[in-house]
Parts: sequence; structure tokens; C-alpha cells
Amino acid sequence: MNETTAEHRTAIITGATGAIGQAIAGQIAARPGFEVVLACRDEAKAKRTVSHLKRSTRNDRIRYEIVDLSRQASIAALADRWHGPLHVLVNNAAITPRKRQETPEGIELQFATNVLGYFWMIQVLSSTLMQSTPSRVVNVASYWAGGLDIDDLEFKRRKYNNDLAYRQSKQANRMLTATFAQRLKPHRVSVTTCHPGDVNSTLSNNLGFGGHETADQGADTPVWLATAPNGMEKTGKYFEHRRETKCRFAQDTQTVEALYEACGAYTGP
Ligand SMILES: NC(=O)c1ccc[n+]([C@@H]2O[C@H](COP(=O)([O-])OP(=O)(O)OC[C@H]3O[C@@H](n4cnc5c(N)ncnc54)[C@H](OP(=O)(O)O)[C@@H]3O)[C@@H](O)[C@H]2O)c1
Repeated sequence: MNETTAEHRTAIITGATGAIGQAIAGQIAARPGFEVVLACRDEAKAKRTVSHLKRSTRNDRIRYEIVDLSRQASIAALADRWHGPLHVLVNNAAITPRKRQETPEGIELQFATNVLGYFWMIQVLSSTLMQSTPSRVVNVASYWAGGLDIDDLEFKRRKYNNDLAYRQSKQANRMLTATFAQRLKPHRVSVTTCHPGDVNSTLSNNLGFGGHETADQGADTPVWLATAPNGMEKTGKYFEHRRETKCRFAQDTQTVEALYEACGAYTGP
């Protein structure tokens, strides 16, 4: 398929019941030829969002899949029941709980959702993406990133603080983009990352700010990365407001590879 046509493409958007995710799903669904699948954990919210988006975009090819993105088994189950091609995966779901919590598997919840959720989604869906080329992964990260401690990813040694854990997770999203881009480039799957925008949401409120951009403004860069021509030219890169921006984290290749290995160690058979 020609990269400039949007004929019969399928996109998964995670966290599409949230502020930016819903706007991303709506903007992609409004483009010709897209089937949009919302990957959500809350069925009632998912149903409401699908109805709203069908009405607002006049696209009937919008549906949801229930998945808990903090749990590998739930992500693996989504991949197992997935049939057909996948051209676009937007990893966007994230949380900022004020208190340290763990998944039933005993993994710190913010790391599990914001980092491993992205990692596992790419991992289990990469063969489908490779069969649907040219295809893309967009990892929604942030300029608000840093402080990653490769020896304490789950805040077992450091005192948990939701802002610190969040910044670490967004650094990890940007780092993992670099290594997945390299690994998937020979298969014509591009992997990019971006800061969406500062938007009022549950996530931003938990961090103590409201946001000065609309959700649609926040969705603009992720949607552009997911749909604009020449996806492969952008692979491995980080963008803010559609502008390629140097990412110092991605340049630390030793830590990038250590992080990839560390995430792999959380992945069961
Ligand atoms: N808002 C900002 O100013 C800002 C700035 C920079 C970067 N970002 C990035 O933008 C992305 C979206 O943020 P947002 O502000 O739109 O957040 P949000 O409104 O709080 O939405 C978060 C979404 O993630 C979903 N989610 C959380 N945990 C999940 C799980 N275990 N399984 C499945 N879904 C789960 C939520 O589902 P429920 O509806 O069920 O809770 C919701 O749909 C994030 O990656 C964030 O880091 C946001």
C-alpha cells in the first residue's frame, strides 16, 4: 500500500477514554479509510466513547477492546484474539497515582502501566505490524521526563513520589522508542515518540497542574505522526508540536539497552 493513501487502515489507540486518547481516536477516525479500535479497561466508558466518536466523526468503523495495560496476560490475550492487519498503534494510556500501588503480579503500578504497557503492546503486536507494512507505532511521552534509575525502576529503594515516577516513565517511553525503532526498521515498522501538549486531565490533575492546551491540540502531534506521509523517515525520533527535538535520553545507548533488557525480564513466556 502507498504510504500516502489511508485506504483500509486499522489503528489501535490505548487510553482512548482519557482526554488526549479520545481526541487522538477522534482525529484518526475522522480521516478516510481508518478503522479505529479503542483499547480500554472500563467497558462502560468504552461504550460511551465509541458512541460519541461514531456520532462526531460519522465513521462506523470504531470499536473497543477491553484490556488492562498494566498486565501482560491481558495484553497477550488482546494479541491472541486480534485478527487482521494493524497499521497504527498509538501507545498513550498512562497514570499518575499519588500513592505507590502494585499490580496483582506485584509490579509497581505506574511503571507497569506507563512503561511495561507500552513495551508489551509493541512486543506482542509487532508481528502483526510487520505483516501490515508500512506501519507505525507512536509512543506518547512528554517533555516532562527524567530521573530514571535503572536499578530502582519500581521505587523499592527510593521513596515513591508520583511526579518522580511519572518523569521516569516518560523518559523510559522515549528511550524504548529508540531501541524499538532500530529493531523494527528492517521490517518497515516505524516507531516515534512525542510530547502531546499540556492538557487538563486526570493524569495532569494528579500531578498538580491543569493544562493550557485543548485535548485536540494535545492530539495533534501524535495524530500527525500516526498519519502523515513518510513515516519511516521519522523513525526513532522525538517530536514536540510536530518539530523534531533532540532527545538526550535516546543518545545514552547503554542505558537504553539496559532498560530494554530490564523490561524483557518482566515478560513471561
Ligand atoms: N495531560 C497532559 O498535560 C500531558 C502532558 C504530557 C504528556 N501526556 C501524556 O499523554 C498521554 C495521555 O494522557 P491524558 O492526560 O490524556 O491522561 P488521562 O486523561 O488521565 O487518560 C489516561 C487514559 O489511560 C487509561 N488507562 C490508565 N490505566 C490503564 C490500564 N491499566 N489499562 C487500560 N487503560 C488504562 C485511562 O483509562 P480510564 O478512563 O479507565 O481511567 C484513560 O483512558 C499519557 O501518556 C501522558 O503521559 C499528557
